[in-house]
Amino acid sequence: MSEMTDRKKLYIETYGCQMNVADSEVVISLMQEQGYEVTERMEEASLILVNTCSIRENAEQRIWGRLDVFRQQKEKRPGTRIGVIGCMAERLKEDLLKREKAVDLVVGPDAYRALPGLVEQVESGQNGVNTILSREETYGDIMPVRTGANNISAFISIMRGCNNMCTYCIVPYVRGRERSRDPQTIFREVETLAQAGYREVTLIGQNVDSYRWRTNDGRSYPFAWLLEQVAQIDSRLRIRFSTSHPKDLSDRVLEVMARYPNICRHIHLPVQSGSTKVLKAMNRGYTREWYLNRIDAIRSHLPDAQITTDIMAGFCSENEDDHRQTLSLMEYVEYDFAYMFKYSERPGTRAARKMEDDVPEQTKKKRLQEIIDLQNKISAAVKQKAVGKTFEVLVEGSSKKSSQQLSGRNSQNQVVVFPKGNQQVGDFVQVRIDQATPGTLIGNQVESK
Ligand code: SAH
Ligand code: SF4
Ligand code: F3S
Repeated sequence: MSEMTDRKKLYIETYGCQMNVADSEVVISLMQEQGYEVTERMEEASLILVNTCSIRENAEQRIWGRLDVFRQQKEKRPGTRIGVIGCMAERLKEDLLKREKAVDLVVGPDAYRALPGLVEQVESGQNGVNTILSREETYGDIMPVRTGANNISAFISIMRGCNNMCTYCIVPYVRGRERSRDPQTIFREVETLAQAGYREVTLIGQNVDSYRWRTNDGRSYPFAWLLEQVAQIDSRLRIRFSTSHPKDLSDRVLEVMARYPNICRHIHLPVQSGSTKVLKAMNRGYTREWYLNRIDAIRSHLPDAQITTDIMAGFCSENEDDHRQTLSLMEYVEYDFAYMFKYSERPGTRAARKMEDDVPEQTKKKRLQEIIDLQNKISAAVKQKAVGKTFEVLVEGSSKKSSQQLSGRNSQNQVVVFPKGNQQVGDFVQVRIDQATPGTLIGNQVESK
């Protein structure tokens, strides 16, 4: 028939968090089994998929912009099919087809196994929609096709969904109930990656601390257990994990980290706000004092760890005093890095239904800017403290700025740049830090490999 049908080429773009990156790797695996070949060039694709994020309004706006581009592509090459997958597909369902006529396919995060069948359905002239959420699906048996820039670092999804119901958050609605993946499939994936020469794996989930594998005989295995098992697979394999939830981060996890040098000295612990009143309105399940207690616990178990966070400015009812409390908490913790956002109301969430988005846009902007300015100062000071120290760095590639420089990260997840010699991507090298910027440590290798 047409050249379209013999050349099954998939072009995929991924937005949003690490979970989506991992999911796209599962989708590619499923589509390759159907004879699809992945292409980096949209112009030659027979199927364009966009894996989407709904977390803030501007995340969705960006996707609409991309859909304009894909529609133009389809106008040029009419056989091209367009699929929207992921969180925005789940949120908007069939409405997406109505709002953007060029879209053929809408598939939610728990329905990727149905994707090949739906694509066939589209080929026969119908639309394909599946946004059914599952209580069990973890794609545990599917070996993802890695898409990272190098073959040394990979994400491994250990759980899906979220039961926390933070009042501002769309994730529980678009990702469904929380479920943990069978640990045996996780171990197998880690072993396969280690054998293939990978040097680092990151265990990911919306709240990794609530990982719990339950067996039929009533036993259950928490995240601290999983982390320890994974750390024992290969002592030269770096282990990272994300995201930790302050209400669930246990001392047991910190103790496991302290015992295994290959578990990286970095904890991403989103605080959102420094005000107990606002945290309560967010339904975060902890107070300012509890959060600071967790920080103190990290500092005492892991004195050399770096802590990073997410902070949101201008949530419902936040006043100037609440905002000051966020700033003072930031000074206390001394985050190495933070993702910082303005609150964006998401339709259907409890905040959208029950609370007034009462902080004026100008005030949100001003508070966010104060948060960003303070964090820049803190990041600079934290990085400065690393000057004179020596770190083991996993080489990841050339630095963004110069091909004469290599770039990698230390165990603390700080980016380290140093002059290129005969080191290879995937090597661990000792680097002494001579200089620092708020985002990068700059140094020299101090030992031959
Ligand atoms: N599961 C993780 C976070 C997932 S979303 C956790 O609980 O920490 C990533 C970040 O996006 C959140 O930490 C929060 O800071 C931000 N975010 C979530 N919903 C938001 C909203 N409606 N408006 C602005 N930022 C939001
Ligand atoms: Fe959203 Fe809260 Fe779940 Fe994180 S823990 S994904 S912020 S509901
Ligand atoms: Fe976005 Fe979905 Fe992740 S809403 S942040 S891609 S879970």
